[in-house]
Amino acid sequence: MAKILVTGGLGFIGSHTVVELVNSGYEPIIVDDLSNSDPKIIDQLAKIIGYKPPFYKLDLCDEQGVKELAVKEPDIAGIIHFAAFKAVGESVQQPIKYYRNNFYSLLNVLNAFDGRPVNFVFSSSCTVYGQPDKLPVTESAPVKAAESPYGNTKQIAEEILTDMQKAGSSYKVISLRYFNPVGAHSSGLIGELPIGVPQNLVPFITQTAIGKREKITVFGNDYNTPDGSCIRDYIHVVDLAKAHVAALKLMETETFKGYDVFNIGTGQGSSVLQVIHAFEQSTGQKLNYQIGPRRDGDVEQVWGDVSKSKNILKWQTELNLDVMMQSAWEWEKYIAQNPL
Ligand code: WQD
Repeated sequence: MAKILVTGGLGFIGSHTVVELVNSGYEPIIVDDLSNSDPKIIDQLAKIIGYKPPFYKLDLCDEQGVKELAVKEPDIAGIIHFAAFKAVGESVQQPIKYYRNNFYSLLNVLNAFDGRPVNFVFSSSCTVYGQPDKLPVTESAPVKAAESPYGNTKQIAEEILTDMQKAGSSYKVISLRYFNPVGAHSSGLIGELPIGVPQNLVPFITQTAIGKREKITVFGNDYNTPDGSCIRDYIHVVDLAKAHVAALKLMETETFKGYDVFNIGTGQGSSVLQVIHAFEQSTGQKLNYQIGPRRDGDVEQVWGDVSKSKNILKWQTELNLDVMMQSAWEWEKYIAQNPL
């Protein structure tokens, strides 16, 4: 079976991707520094896939350590690179931490495996678009000045990968621009594990519903949108995970050349208030929420044109907002009763 290195493989999206890799006959090898994940996720994964995947605890900023990993793993067919810091707000407060970690880790991995015929999937983000001029946003839309150091690390990383390709590289590369990943695996055994107070909407919703948070604040209802709250393209994390398998399969074909980029979303926008109401209706849990001031750095509305992913990546989402909300709620209840 083809060995796939999954950096950040114990994180929210990484762990769900490990499951889908196994479901598709790949052999995932997890690398994670545990800075934003829990080693017990390996035990949770074993309950789903039936075995504990190989795991290296390694900070990818350690250049020598990454080189030693490459020697230990001589026949890696693909790399899925999730490992990065990803909190938009924190990146504004600590830019050097973000530039150092997100670039050192990427460059060390690319350097250590250079020269080998590796299929490389990069975890990018819709944040590269900023507030698009036209919606839904396509992959050919202009990349706008990043709204945060986090978004800037994604934009510059894509440029690094493009330049590497232009120079003639042994890698094939696909960047996946995620919209908003939410939800959890149907087993309820893995899901999002925010550290401290959740920054993102859906974990804040589920923690409010279970009583860990008193109420949720809607960051502004005076935007130029139908109900005044911001619009995003929320995608089920399992659909997102499957997009990574589709990317590997596309690069395994003879027709794929060099580098490409794909929007990974549903193609539909949902407002904050719509998500809150969808959660209440699909779970039967009433939410205590209030309207508050806008959050700095928020774009008003963004959702993806996903026709390129459908036609070329041969991938599209299958799970709707209700399933996203229900699965997120099941995971919140599970983790409340079974702390890791
Ligand atoms: C969504 C909406 C908030 C919390 C995230 C990641 C980013 C990227 C895309 C990966 C916004 C509103 C939130 C709350 C609220 N992911 N909100 N009350 O900002 O779109 O970006 O997904 O690359 O890295 O940060 O997601 O969930 O923080 O916010 O009203 O308590 O929910 O204002 O409109 P965001 P989010």
